Amino acid sequence: METIASPLETQKLCASWRAAGLKIGLVPTMGYLHAGHESLIVKALAESDRVVVSIFVNPTQFGPKEDLDKYPRDFQRDQSLCRSLGVSLIFAPSPDDMYPAGFATKVAVPSMAATLCGRNRPNHFDGVCLVCSKLFNVVGPRKAYFGLKDAQQYFVLARMVRDLNLDLELVPCPTVREPDGLALSSRNAYLNEAERKAATVLSRALDRAKGAALGGQRDPKALIDLIAATVAEEPLARLEYAQVVATGDLADVSADLSTIDGEILVAAALWLGQTRLIDNFLFTPPEARR
Ligand code: PAJ
Repeated sequence: METIASPLETQKLCASWRAAGLKIGLVPTMGYLHAGHESLIVKALAESDRVVVSIFVNPTQFGPKEDLDKYPRDFQRDQSLCRSLGVSLIFAPSPDDMYPAGFATKVAVPSMAATLCGRNRPNHFDGVCLVCSKLFNVVGPRKAYFGLKDAQQYFVLARMVRDLNLDLELVPCPTVREPDGLALSSRNAYLNEAERKAATVLSRALDRAKGAALGGQRDPKALIDLIAATVAEEPLARLEYAQVVATGDLADVSADLSTIDGEILVAAALWLGQTRLIDNFLFTPPEARR
């Protein structure tokens, strides 16, 4: 396994693989790898000849008051995990490698970036689009793997790929959870013991909403109220949002769910002390299936 910081060197190596007819799978990450990341890498390994994992804590997707400086890092552990799994290359640039002096370009999908998590993280998805455009151009993957834990990120990037005719496929991968339901996240490391226990309220709230939807509840507001009521039962948790949107364009669904054409995303974010956690589920009303 190689580890390369230089975008140009990475680009050359990946171009030589493509010239040899090898299919590249890319797993973009910010490191501090856990079993969620690992599931993406394992899927990529099964479907590719060479797997590239990028490890880059991307400054352009963090707001000025966010956790860029304290974001958890353990490069050596990440390296040994990637090596043991069979990854061919870790692309680990520095911020200067990615954004040298004079960098001026922006990439954005504003309508889909302003809702859900974007309501309180105004430039977050612009930063994600920018860094992923660069990663796609540097690596030239046939497929890139993303977790549905960050469903909005996946849907925004899928729209960017479609709109810009980027020549790769994005592969959505299921959320990996702790046994008690908490979605794995690098940010779970911030939780103290009491917050960690309280954190299960998020998946529990979403499970209740999912149960209601499966049981025939078609009023999006009723699903949102159920999530809010469940989160309110946990004194340590503060709900940031719960929303029901269509997966195609992330527009709010306010009418009866059975009147929509396809899949919906039910997503929520909450705060436990200084830590923000997100989770979601996808649902297609059987009667709305085309
Ligand atoms: P990061 O939070 O490190 O996540 C990297 C990838 O792992 C993302 O696609 C994310 O959705 C996926 N992932 C995280 N937790 C997961 C879980 N519990 N189950 C399944 N997949 C999970 O997301 C980012 O980094 C960045 O925004 C990035 C795309 C790398 C751009 O900087």
